[in-house]
This record gives sequence, structure tokens and C-alpha cells, in this order.
Amino acid sequence: MKYQIPTGLFDILPKDPKEEWRCSPIWTYVESQIREIAQDFGYLELRTPIFEKADLFLRSVGETSDIVSKELYLFQDKGERLLALRPEGTAPVMRAIIEHGLLNQGRNQKYFYIGPMFRYDRPQAGRYRQHHQFGIEAIGNRSPEQDVEVITLLYTLLKRLGLNNLEIHINCIGDRSVRDAFKHALKDFLQPHLAELSKESQARFETNPLRILDSKNENDQKLVKGAPSILDFINDENRLHFEKVKELLDDIGIEYIVNPQLVRGLDYYNEMVFEVVSSDLGAQSSLGGGGRYDGLLKMMGGPDVPASGFGSGIERIIQAVIAQNCPLPVEPRPTLFLIPLGETASKYAFKLLQELRQQNISAQMDFTGRKVGKAMQMANQVRAQNVLVIGDKEIETGFAELKEMDSGTNQRIPLDSVVRILRILETSGPYLAYLEEMEKPFESKDDAQFFMQKVHRTLEQTKMMTEKFHQQIAELKGLIEESEE
Ligand code: HAM
Repeated sequence: MKYQIPTGLFDILPKDPKEEWRCSPIWTYVESQIREIAQDFGYLELRTPIFEKADLFLRSVGETSDIVSKELYLFQDKGERLLALRPEGTAPVMRAIIEHGLLNQGRNQKYFYIGPMFRYDRPQAGRYRQHHQFGIEAIGNRSPEQDVEVITLLYTLLKRLGLNNLEIHINCIGDRSVRDAFKHALKDFLQPHLAELSKESQARFETNPLRILDSKNENDQKLVKGAPSILDFINDENRLHFEKVKELLDDIGIEYIVNPQLVRGLDYYNEMVFEVVSSDLGAQSSLGGGGRYDGLLKMMGGPDVPASGFGSGIERIIQAVIAQNCPLPVEPRPTLFLIPLGETASKYAFKLLQELRQQNISAQMDFTGRKVGKAMQMANQVRAQNVLVIGDKEIETGFAELKEMDSGTNQRIPLDSVVRILRILETSGPYLAYLEEMEKPFESKDDAQFFMQKVHRTLEQTKMMTEKFHQQIAELKGLIEESEE
């Protein structure tokens, strides 16, 4: 029997020449950028399980939403509890906040999560039955600044990854009473065209008419063109908030498009909603979306505290990074590849390998006992920076040749100093990156002054170190001369 992965799922392999976006190094890189930006903006990680009691999603996301009505992975466990694989991350985070009384530690809490979400939808490029989301939830703050921080966090992440051609769509959908009034007006407008709408939109006419506005069907899109705008229904408070959000975005030079048809597919939103779309992704163009959801915590039995956040599909981010040829970090290379010749050398090298690894040095070793030529090929394959061949002779003399693979040069080094020498090689990397940064032209006088101070300090330290080296070398020379006499 041949096992195959279920439809709509995918594996992430170290290398996949056909599907570059499914290669693990790029996932690791994007996830590390996500963690970094979350930390820079002050968001802490909150992990929740991948399944919850089904009721959590039915009540919070909304029973008429696609995610719940059509796409939920529902199952009963052996105790006959009705459970669901999580289709999104907001409701579980709210559940955890209430369950652990996290708001007792302060009413302002900022969380982020990265993890798989499950939606039973028709799979296509950019849409999977298991996708991975990076999401943030900022609790306790109703200010427009908070909304703009949420938008800019996603936008800054995408810019840091090198993405262009991004569009930020924003809208204000008011509170429930606004949406109820708007729904009536929208239905009145659509009623005469009901028969012309797509089947999906016809089904939504009664259950969730707002979603007809963001239907992907071309004919539906034409029909809703002249529909009333929700922005004509929002109240003064909503409008003031939305104007402030736009003003703040203008102040920091982030461009946006006000899109009155953006309604989002989940029930819990109010006021500001947004989506970041990329023209490189085809039909599934949303890199992420979210907005304000002030009533959710209270509705779920928690305190009446406002909140705002977004979720973003990591698959789509990675696909956009590849489509736009954004710079990717060079894959890390092992500092050393050890090739032992013979059993004694193998024992020696294995101990050395462990010592190097304990000292944070990235090292590998040939365990197969193959000939030097073949082992060298392996070292090349893993792109080792240096190779050390250790045989009986090397163990006897205490010296071996350290081969630098890129230049092909050899340097005789004492075996006792391997760890020390490699530590120096590994730690000089960041130092070189720092020197490179110094070479770039400065943007302002303050910039230049700041770096100047740093350079002075570095030069002083380097001078002190050089003097110390001279002293140590002189001492060693003295010792050698003494032993030769
Ligand atoms: P969402 O718009 O349903 O929002 O999903 C967020 C993002 O997840 C989408 O913009 C898209 O990038 C990605 N995504 C969704 N479904 C799929 C799929 N089937 N395959 C691939 N990627 C997908 C939420 O889930 C809200 N919880 C976001 C939020 C957080 N709002 C406030 N806080």
C-alpha cells in the first residue's frame, strides 16, 4: 500500500526543487523574522492547542461564516466531546486570556502566535486545508494608534522581507447596529438582482449579505459596484476613529486604499478592518488581514476590553517572497568537517566533534569511514568552510592541516588548539558584518556621530587587544627560545 498525504496538505522539505516555497530553510528564515518583529514591537508568544471545544469557534467566529459553516474540521473524541481543529487563532487566544485571568496582570496585553490552522476548503494555489498563520492580538487599547500599530507591524514585516507591490486596504464597518442598518440597505439594493447573483452569493443573501461585497465572482463584483457604502452608515464616533487611523497612516507615510467593500469573513470585527494584498499571488492575494474586535472578549464571558489584531498566511508570504525574488539569507555552512582515517583517529575525532559542538561550533564528521576523496566530496556537499583530516600521523605529531575550502589553502595547526581556532573563526563573522555596516554612507550627521563613537570604542578595544597579542607572542617566543637553548 502506498501512503499519500491528504488533499490540500503539503510537506516542508529541506530541499524541494519543484516547489521552492516548500523548503524548510526559507520557513525557518521567515519565522525568525516574524519572531524578531514581534519582539521589536513588544508582542509576547502565546501558544494554544490545535484543537478546542467546537463551541468556541461556533460562537465567536460566527455560525454563518464560511470558516464555521462549511470549513470546520469537526470531530468527536472517545469521550463524545465535540471538538474542532482550530480554523483561526483569535478565539483560542481570547479563551486562554479569560481562562488564565491574564488581564489581571494589566489590562494592556500584546500577544503573537505562529502555528497551523485548518479549514476544509477547495484547495488551490495559496489555499490549503492546513495553513500556517502568524497572528497578533493587542488587548486593552481602543486608540487609533493601536490599530495603526497592528497594520504597521504586518506591513513592516513584509517590507523587511523585501516585498514590494503591496496594497493596504482599510475600511470601517462600524458596530453591530451600523451593520444591521447597512445589511437592510444592501439587501434592498440587491433584491432586484438576486437571480443574477452567483449561487454562493444567493445563499449568502439571507445569512451573511455583507460577504456578497467581497465575492470573487466577476459578475457579482459588477453588480455590487453601485451598492450603498457602509461608510455612509457609520456613526460619528466610528468616523472620528477611522479618520484618526487614516491621519496616522498619512503621518508615517504608509499608503492605503479605503475600500468600502472590505468586510472580512469573521463575525467578531467592528470599526477598522484591513487587509494587505499582493498582486503577485493570483486569486488568493491576501497576505494578511484583521481589524478591531472590541466586543469579543465580553461576548466570550470575559471582561469588557477592546482588542485589535491580524492573521497572516505564512505560505502566501513565502510565495510572494519567492515571486518577487527577495533576498534570502545564505544558508549557514558548517565551520568544520572532520575526516578521520582509521579507528584510533575516529575515536579521537568523535571526542573532538562533541567538544566543538559543546562550544557552539557548527561541526560535522564523516561516520562512514570512506576514503579521503569521497569524504571530501561529502564535505563539499554540506558546504563545509574548513576540513580537518585526522589520521594516526596527526595524532602522533599533535598537528594537522586545516583546509579552508573556498581558497583551497592549508594551514598547519596544533590539534590541541582546534576548538580555540575555530571559535575565533566563528566569532569573527559578526565582527566583519559590523565593519561592512560601517562602510555604508551615513544618512545624517547624528547617524555619523553615533557610529563615530562606536568606531572609536572599537578601535580602542582593538588597540588594547593587539597590544595583548604582541605581549603573548613575545612571551611564547621567549619560552620557545628557552626550550631550544
Ligand atoms: P483570516 O482572514 O481568515 O483572518 O485569515 C488570515 C490570513 O490567513 C489570510 O489573510 C491568509 O493570508 C491566510 N489564510 C487563511 N485561510 C487560508 C488558507 N486556507 N490557506 C492559506 N492561507 C490562508 C483570521 O483568521 C483572523 N483570526 C485574523 C485576526 C486576528 N483578526 C484579528 N486578529
